[in-house]
Amino acid sequence: MNTDNHLQPDLRLGVNIDHVATIRNARGGDHPEPVRAALMAAKAGADGITAHLREDRRHIRDDDLTVLMDELDIPLNLEMAATDEMLEIALRHKPHAACIVPENREERTTEGGLDAAGLHNRLTDFVGQLRNANIRVSLFIEPDPRQIEAAIHLGAPVVEFHTGHYAHVTGSEREAELKRIADAAALAAKNGIEPHAGHGLTFDNVTPIAAIPQLAELNIGHFLIGEAIFEGLDGSIRKMRELMDEAR
Ligand code: PXP
Repeated sequence: MNTDNHLQPDLRLGVNIDHVATIRNARGGDHPEPVRAALMAAKAGADGITAHLREDRRHIRDDDLTVLMDELDIPLNLEMAATDEMLEIALRHKPHAACIVPENREERTTEGGLDAAGLHNRLTDFVGQLRNANIRVSLFIEPDPRQIEAAIHLGAPVVEFHTGHYAHVTGSEREAELKRIADAAALAAKNGIEPHAGHGLTFDNVTPIAAIPQLAELNIGHFLIGEAIFEGLDGSIRKMRELMDEAR
């Protein structure tokens, strides 16, 4: 057990269920239900459920949020853009946590981190209102000291580092990106901010990220839902959990 306060002995797994909704929406009916996947994920060892309500509702919809809030016993982390519409929805549902992400209409997924530094004025009131409602605010940012500095000024208790670049490069580029994430996690923790990470994580690339001692949570979605086709949802989550635990 680590004695340094900045090190997190336990690494939580947040399972993102957006792509269960993507499959449902492909046919327009009710099946498969995201809440059923969320309840199964909790049984398989997820510490929390993550869902991204996008402006275009391409996966999770407003009624999913209502059902998730009613039925889940584990924390819900709502990913959302910094818009007035999403603020109103978050304040109405009061999820455990809200992760503020950048959102571009044309993107296939969240392609980069939030420019917390550039959006400082807009985010100040936004973060303040969420915090006043006792919602744990997280900012989805690049592992960049400038963005961490902005998170400190904004009073965000949590940052989530975008691991998409790490997931897509190889060799020395991956090593360099891993170091950038590890350094960012250490800097955040030193400043009292809880660091999380996510995006593009798989069985093959999760171990070095899970080994970063300051990280407290990983949020993983697309790979787990895809792998569920082969291993079942329970099996894919349990295997990810094991890999994360072994890395600690
Ligand atoms: N964390 C955040 C903030 C995200 O926006 C996403 C994707 O929605 C994830 C984690 C999960 O990424 P992936 O689906 O690639 O595992």
